Amino acid sequence: MNKNACVRKLLTKRFGEINPGSIDDYISRGGYDSLRKALAMSGGDIINEIKNSGLKGRGGAAFPTGLKMQAVKEAGGSPKYIICNADEGEPGNFKDRYLMENDPHQLIEGIIICAYATGIKHGYIFIRGEYARAAAMVEKALEQARIRGFLGDNILDAGFDFDIDVYTGAGSYVCGEEFALLVTIEGKSGRATYKPPFPTTCGLYNKPTQINNVETFCNIPHIIEMGGAEFSKIGTDSSKGTKLVCLSGNVVRPGLYEVVFGTSIKDIIYGLGGGIPNNREIKMIQLGGASGPVIPSDMSDLPLDYASMRENDLNFGSGAIIVMDERINVLDILKRIIGFFHHESCGKCTPCREGLAQTLILLDRFIEGVAVEKDLALLGILIETMSEASICGLGQAAPTAIKKVLQYFPEEFQSRIHATDSAAV
Ligand SMILES: Cc1cc2nc3c(=O)[nH]c(=O)nc-3n(C[C@H](O)[C@H](O)[C@H](O)COP(=O)(O)O)c2cc1C
Ligand code: SF4
Repeated sequence: MNKNACVRKLLTKRFGEINPGSIDDYISRGGYDSLRKALAMSGGDIINEIKNSGLKGRGGAAFPTGLKMQAVKEAGGSPKYIICNADEGEPGNFKDRYLMENDPHQLIEGIIICAYATGIKHGYIFIRGEYARAAAMVEKALEQARIRGFLGDNILDAGFDFDIDVYTGAGSYVCGEEFALLVTIEGKSGRATYKPPFPTTCGLYNKPTQINNVETFCNIPHIIEMGGAEFSKIGTDSSKGTKLVCLSGNVVRPGLYEVVFGTSIKDIIYGLGGGIPNNREIKMIQLGGASGPVIPSDMSDLPLDYASMRENDLNFGSGAIIVMDERINVLDILKRIIGFFHHESCGKCTPCREGLAQTLILLDRFIEGVAVEKDLALLGILIETMSEASICGLGQAAPTAIKKVLQYFPEEFQSRIHATDSAAV
């Protein structure tokens, strides 16, 4: 196959070409031109361009970014806030770190354009605590942007005042969830809450708040530069633009790849990733990260595309692809995944807090070969309850991998059911 067929460098085009610590390098490659262009437009026109582009949020839920901005702009209440979610706690994801470390001004420019469009004067970039290098790069870039007049009072003499603070997390996965993140900035303990209301009307300090992922904001300067209609020509009907993919696991060339939406998972693994070491077979592929679904290798022809994923009751979250070859022990992998979520659960709601603990006990019974048929039924009830009744996405998505193993690899559980007990139940 042609390994270049699916690659298009938009967000990563300056990676390795510029010194990310130099604002001059960024400017010399067209940086901040989109901000100048945007400042000559009305906020409404900018939002229309973003709507026309078809951009959907890259943080996992794929909500249309233009609609979110319009909701913030139209919401009553002042001041309003804009927040960049750079928590990136999902195991298997590292794209936001690369974006911040290799081209921090691209992110800052995207945030400033959105703030101008929605009439916001203050922003935060919430960076995962472990990302010390990324935080330092972003802080340095913010200072450079202030000195050059891209941040602060009367930006580029356009009569627009705006600045951004960096807030670093303290190592909690759930703080990537938007409400947990907001209350953390307010100085409270990071716990999710019921929705609605959504942050667009009732966010930071109960004020209208635009919150988007790093990759989402990084698309904005490109949309303004090429226009929404032109941007929307990249990708597929349901999925516009490019997607950063974090390829990891048993592949020859793991790493970060930027591909056009519609590229197949197989082309990413075999074309870009170089296939599986020693030509081993793939056992399963996890999409999106620890909270994502697993699929067998014969589904790897599926394109990276929101509609195709939805049709198959799948999703690719924020873009991780984790490849596991024939040597893995599926139940051990599930135990690790559930163990992670059990550790990260904030404990606020029973289905997640208790459900994860009970799931771990049940998984152990299968791993030890002492499970009986009714354990399988109980597992089914547990994971359904967690998905349906947990307050936030952590508990709702934690059992996704188990669900998909039950669907695509039922023998992994069936073969561990204790024969004698199974007959007796
Ligand atoms: C448990 C949990 C963790 C999350 N972690 C992140 C994260 O690290 N980064 C992120 O952008 N979104 C994360 N999200 C999604 C955010 O709540 C939110 O939907 C996203 O930041 C919105 O940005 P977008 O519209 O640009 O995708 C998480 C959601 C849940 C439920
Ligand atoms: S689902 Fe889990 S993480 Fe989310 S609120 Fe409930 S206990 Fe906390």
